[in-house]
Amino acid sequence: MADREASTGDKTALLTGIGVGPGDPGLLTLAALDALRRADRVVAPTTDTDVPGRAESIVTAALPDLAVDRLLFDMSRDGAGGEVARKASHLAAAARLLPWLSSDEHVAFVTLGDPNIYSTFPSLVHALGDLGWHGTVATVPGITAFQALAAETGTVLLDGTESLSLVTALDGVDHVADALEDPERAIVIYKGGRHIAAVAQLLAERGRLGGAVFGERLGLDDQRVGSIDEVGDGPASYLVTVVVPPTGRSESGR
Ligand SMILES: C[S@@+](CC[C@H](N)C(=O)[O-])C[C@H]1O[C@@H](n2cnc3c(N)ncnc32)[C@H](O)[C@@H]1O
Repeated sequence: MADREASTGDKTALLTGIGVGPGDPGLLTLAALDALRRADRVVAPTTDTDVPGRAESIVTAALPDLAVDRLLFDMSRDGAGGEVARKASHLAAAARLLPWLSSDEHVAFVTLGDPNIYSTFPSLVHALGDLGWHGTVATVPGITAFQALAAETGTVLLDGTESLSLVTALDGVDHVADALEDPERAIVIYKGGRHIAAVAQLLAERGRLGGAVFGERLGLDDQRVGSIDEVGDGPASYLVTVVVPPTGRSESGR
């Protein structure tokens, strides 16, 4: 794309969602750093425009001179209760991007983990569509919180023909209970901070505490990592991830 621009002088608007990993700037990829350096403008979600959001803090730790425009997002509640406020904030954020995209800028939106996994990025793209912008969208993959937790705890997430369920526990443990039906399935649980004690209790009832780990605020200064039976009565931070490995592995599972 850059070569085509150099030879033709043409430039069209581009919106790129850049995954910046869960917290440690060391987990930013070279592709993410390259895309950030090339962008005309870098934007980042925050819940308070006076305070950098986590994604902004990660990229400015790696690139201290990077200019970042903050977009206000409503993230107070991920469930149905906050839907109206969330959608309104997506539209307001999209409206701020419109003049830049209409001037054919390359705009980079930074987001925690990977932009295609439970990210606000697709909602922002959708809101831009509602405002009539249907330009080119790209994503740069990021390292997810569950990959970081597996590495941090020395957990082999999948082996041989095992499968993986990535579920949420935002409103309770129903999705976790469903996933536990298959003992050969690894389970990753996102958004379970408020229900972390119920998650631990369910895993105990189903005999799946063995090897199950949690990671809270991974990569941040107050990171907490441990086996799930250490989690206590909870609640934990919204930024908590649980990994439950499959049961009954053989040594020669590959
Ligand atoms: C809105 S989702 C974002 C997921 C992200 N796009 C990814 O690919 O990992 C938020 C959930 O991701 C997990 N998460 C993201 N960053 C985390 C971190 N630093 N430590 C622990 N969990 C994290 C938590 O389960 C949190 O509730």
